[in-house]
Amino acid sequence: MAKVLVTGGAGYIGSHTCLELLNAGHEVVVLDNLSNSSEESLHRVQALASKTLDFVQGDIRDQKILDQIFQTHQIDAVIHFAGLKAVGESQQIPLEYFDNNIAGSISLFQAMQRARVFKLVFSSSATVYGESNISPLNEDMPTGMPTNNYGYTKLIVEQLLQKLSAADERWSIALLRYFNPVGAHKSGQIGEDPQGIPNNLMPYVTQVAVGRREKLAVFGHDYDTPDGTGVRDYIHVVDLANAHLCALNNRLDTQGCRVWNIGTGNGISVLQVKNTFEQVNGVTIPFEFVARREGDVATCFADNTRALKELGWTPKYGLEDMLADSWNWQKQNPNGYRD
Ligand code: NAD
Ligand code: UD1
Repeated sequence: MAKVLVTGGAGYIGSHTCLELLNAGHEVVVLDNLSNSSEESLHRVQALASKTLDFVQGDIRDQKILDQIFQTHQIDAVIHFAGLKAVGESQQIPLEYFDNNIAGSISLFQAMQRARVFKLVFSSSATVYGESNISPLNEDMPTGMPTNNYGYTKLIVEQLLQKLSAADERWSIALLRYFNPVGAHKSGQIGEDPQGIPNNLMPYVTQVAVGRREKLAVFGHDYDTPDGTGVRDYIHVVDLANAHLCALNNRLDTQGCRVWNIGTGNGISVLQVKNTFEQVNGVTIPFEFVARREGDVATCFADNTRALKELGWTPKYGLEDMLADSWNWQKQNPNGYRD
């Protein structure tokens, strides 16, 4: 069993990963500045696991806090989720994104090096494949230029980590390229809690279903896809959380830097999401077709064979589970953690 520092552990993917870590018997220390989350998620994680974790409210750019954590706890590995993730906002305030996501990551890696902790799992994104690769995307394809500043920060941190591990063989790094995380824990106690108007499809759909938004705007229906709407690879957040445990186990006795796609390998269209959500949950989602969103590709799904083979990871949940669990969370928490 390992003692794991989880940066950004109060957030959507982080909270689900903390729960799976505790359930598997690991010890967890969370560092989060709560800029996009609430400590309530961690209270619920601990209640669900019937176990405790250590929470430090602070910023990954704060070297003093990082040193304190590494001095107080015998950390074996770090799972690094902390960062800003809103694509549109990253175009408005790029320096905030460069500072939190790139400078913040460097600050964390420096503290890890001082503490001689060299095992790391990093949250990357399928966005690093850029626009020209054709799905199914595999890890041997060249990365492209992401269409926005958020994606650019992911690409830069990936490249920094590749160079770091090439220069110093003590590092052992997993770069996980997530496809589209959706869903929530079966209990409905933890889930995605976006602030303001959601950018992403799934929280938008659930907010329409719960009456917080009037209708779904489907961005484009003239793509070269079976029904004309955008195709993505949706992955249940609990499956994604478990991929981090598999990557952690893989890294505990290996060196170097390795990339894995974390997706189901299934391409699902926007209309399929909407229609299946209605069928599974017995609700209606009013919608309209609007123009394409700038920066969107028609189709993006994973070749996940490397993760299946090398990590011994298998996604367990299908689209219906993802949509039922998203709705269960939203219904029980119409205003997220702010109830
Ligand atoms: P989230 O916003 O829910 O979680 C991120 C957490 O990091 C939040 O709790 C936030 O308060 C914290 N944080 C932000 N900046 C910080 C800083 N400087 N210091 C300390 N804490 C800080 O997002 P999420 O969806 O859980 O995403 C987790 C990670 O996965 C992010 O790095 C994100 O870019 C990446 N990712 C997410 C998706 C997705 O669709 N959700 C897809 C690909 C990659
Ligand atoms: C978006 C980001 C990407 C990020 C990913 C996960 C853009 C251009 N890309 O990707 O960088 O890594 O989220 O956070 O923002 N859709 C609608 N109506 C909506 C919302 C979405 O029709 O209100 C459609 C989109 O056009 C797309 C699909 O639903 O076809 C999924 O969209 P979304 O959830 O935003 O994910 P991505 O586009 O894959």
